[in-house]
Amino acid sequence: MNYMRIFSLLCMISILCTVSTAQEYKYIGAAKCKMCHNKPEKGDQYKKWAEGPHAKAMEKLKGADATNPKCMKCHSTAASVDASLVETITVAEGVSCESCHGPGSAYKAISIMKDRAQSQARGLILPDEKVCKKCHNEESPNYKGFNFAEYSAKITHPDPTLAK
Ligand code: HEC
Ligand code: HEC
Ligand code: HEC
Ligand code: HEC
Repeated sequence: MNYMRIFSLLCMISILCTVSTAQEYKYIGAAKCKMCHNKPEKGDQYKKWAEGPHAKAMEKLKGADATNPKCMKCHSTAASVDASLVETITVAEGVSCESCHGPGSAYKAISIMKDRAQSQARGLILPDEKVCKKCHNEESPNYKGFNFAEYSAKITHPDPTLAK
């Protein structure tokens, strides 16, 4: 194989890699989930989140901490992901739906969302303990320990119409 062929092969590989990054799921923010997940008869997940600790996580960072990436990476979904993946999510909304449920750009459409398998195939996550421990760990200066059952109960937002 001559050098030209190796070179063009490398070019192709790098183009393919760029294309697949461009197709990564993006972060749309809680306001977009709200339009569907604000129905009391389905558990109003938006309100439960908005009144809970995660939506207020950025308010806990005062002064210079509020712009310190070392703090923001756990206190803000938008700040924890690559800038190229930020669609309409804001830093101020703190630990948003998509830190736990995965970036929503490809599963947010109603035709996809109403089908659990299709949603999961497009990035929806039904989170387990591992997801929480990305942030609830000893790297946090205020770590208080983490008990999944206890902590989940404090932020629970079930949809009573959904089968498990
Ligand atoms: C266009 C409306 C719509 C939008 C926007 C939307 N959803 Fe949904 N979502 C639904 C519907 C419909 C269901 C199916 C359950 C139901 O009927 O209540 C669902 C189900 C879910 C489920 C449960 C899946 C399961 O099978 O247990 C999760 C989690 C979820 N949505 C998260 C989100 C998040 C996070 C966002 C924003 C990033 C979002 N949704 C945006 C309509 C929507
Ligand atoms: C590894 C993730 C992580 C990092 C990094 C992190 N935090 Fe936190 N922070 C958390 C979690 C999780 C909590 C909730 C406390 C708990 O229950 O363990 C929290 C809680 C807090 C609280 C509320 C404390 C309380 O007692 O209610 C403050 C204030 C805070 N963090 C400030 C900071 C500052 C300032 C930095 C940067 C120097 C920072 N955090 C970095 C994850 C993190
Ligand atoms: C801190 C993590 C976290 C955040 C933030 C979060 N969720 Fe969840 N969510 C969970 C967990 C854990 C479950 C339970 C998963 C299961 O049933 O297996 C869940 C379940 C759900 C369900 C399905 C309920 C059911 O009965 O099956 C919906 C719908 C949902 N979340 C929507 C949202 C929306 C919309 C937001 C933002 C407004 C949000 N969640 C924010 C962790 C989170
Ligand atoms: C992206 C980072 C992140 C993830 C992922 C995350 N959390 Fe948190 N969590 C935080 C931060 C930051 C706080 C502190 C917010 C505050 O004090 O307002 C917090 C606070 C809490 C609190 C309140 C603790 C207290 O001291 O009152 C509970 C409960 C909680 N989280 C449960 C969970 C559960 C359950 C999961 C997984 C399903 C989870 N969290 C996933 C960052 C995260």
